[in-house]
Amino acid sequence: MKNAVSGFIGVVAILLGTSTVTVSAQTVKGDPKMGAQRAAMCSGCHGISGLRNAFPEVFHFPKIGNQHPEYIVAALQAYRSGERSHPTMRAIASSLTDQAMADLAAFYGQGGLRPTTAAGK
Ligand code: HEC
Repeated sequence: MKNAVSGFIGVVAILLGTSTVTVSAQTVKGDPKMGAQRAAMCSGCHGISGLRNAFPEVFHFPKIGNQHPEYIVAALQAYRSGERSHPTMRAIASSLTDQAMADLAAFYGQGGLRPTTAAGK
């Protein structure tokens, strides 16, 4: 009986171990705090609350704050796969992992507001 129990725990541990690795493609859970950090490289083009774009001409960059997270992830994956062809966003999206996309989507889906820790920056 003891063996059965420890064997069961072993199986659970293996399942847990693999699931954290393989969950990636669809159900990655985004962390908005991580997303806020990653978004530093997006905000130059996609202005977020309280920040101005670098040039007045870039106002036609789509505003991605408050978009549905699913939409943001889908858009990023489409750029990464080449389904969407904008060269700049393709370059950026191809450098993002699924986790990074989920984090960014979680952050922008909340409205893209910076967490309080950004006050000094
Ligand atoms: C160099 C400027 C630039 C940077 C940096 C940039 N983007 Fe973009 N992004 C664009 C442009 C331009 C478009 C519109 C492209 C098009 O017409 O398909 C766009 C489109 C998008 C879209 C699709 C919006 C929509 O309404 O369909 C998403 C989502 C997006 N960007 C997310 C990001 C994220 C997340 C980052 C940071 C990791 C980022 N972008 C960094 C310029 C940029």
